[in-house]
Amino acid sequence: MEKTLSEYQERYQNEAEFFDHEVEEMFRNDRGLKFSNQLTYEDYFGLFTTYRVVKDFFGPVKERKILDFACGSGWISIYLARSGAECCGFDISPKSVEIATRMAEVNGVGSRCQFKVTAAEKMDYPDNTFDLLFGNAALHHTDLDKSPSEIARVLKPGGKAAFIDDLRHHPVMWLYRKFTTDKHTHYETPMVHQNVEQFKPYFTSAVFESYDFLSIFPKQKRLTKILQPIDASILAVLPFMKHFCRHIVIKLIK
Ligand SMILES: C[S@@+](CC[C@H](N)C(=O)[O-])C[C@H]1O[C@@H](n2cnc3c(N)ncnc32)[C@H](O)[C@@H]1O
Repeated sequence: MEKTLSEYQERYQNEAEFFDHEVEEMFRNDRGLKFSNQLTYEDYFGLFTTYRVVKDFFGPVKERKILDFACGSGWISIYLARSGAECCGFDISPKSVEIATRMAEVNGVGSRCQFKVTAAEKMDYPDNTFDLLFGNAALHHTDLDKSPSEIARVLKPGGKAAFIDDLRHHPVMWLYRKFTTDKHTHYETPMVHQNVEQFKPYFTSAVFESYDFLSIFPKQKRLTKILQPIDASILAVLPFMKHFCRHIVIKLIK
């Protein structure tokens, strides 16, 4: 059923208030705005499995026009811009957009990054604008009855979109969400594989892949190295386990 304007207004206000507060706390007194590393997009996305999948799917980003979907603080755009991409980013939270703009300036890529406040369900960008679009932990905050057609609309023909997002039924994360409701917004809805059906009408290719059942601490490199092959074997032998992984990587081609 079509949502009314006031239903969206309530949703947007709820999300914006939550994330305005979050980024204000996180970057209080400009703490953390300046990156302590010099990594490029290729370096950073090479570090973690799910990001590596996105990097391999996108190919080179130099001179490509990329949309950072629900960008938050805009940290992904910094890495992309360091590799020569032309970045646009948007978010429903005005404070996040403010922080993202400052973060790009402080890190010397302000001329390659433009951020604005707009909604994923009705993005303020013309049709066929972007070569690539990436969203991290973002899609599950949007209304999937609306966002897939918008994503397709702003991509150029043949353009690619990728998302790394949370799956709903990972047992540990399910429990975590249940007991930490104050750390989540009212409207966010972690993904399920069946959501692929909502993308298929708008894309020539829509692929959903699961990652990380046991390997849920990506920064613990040694542990991850041991657990990832075990995860791969579990998924190969028990394909239904794809529903219980921590992450989904979504690859779309218009
Ligand atoms: C979990 S954060 C992820 C932010 C960023 N992508 C990152 O990786 O840090 C989700 C973001 O989605 C934004 N958001 C929520 N609903 C939105 C909507 N309907 N349209 C645009 N942005 C939205 C929030 O303000 C928040 O910044």
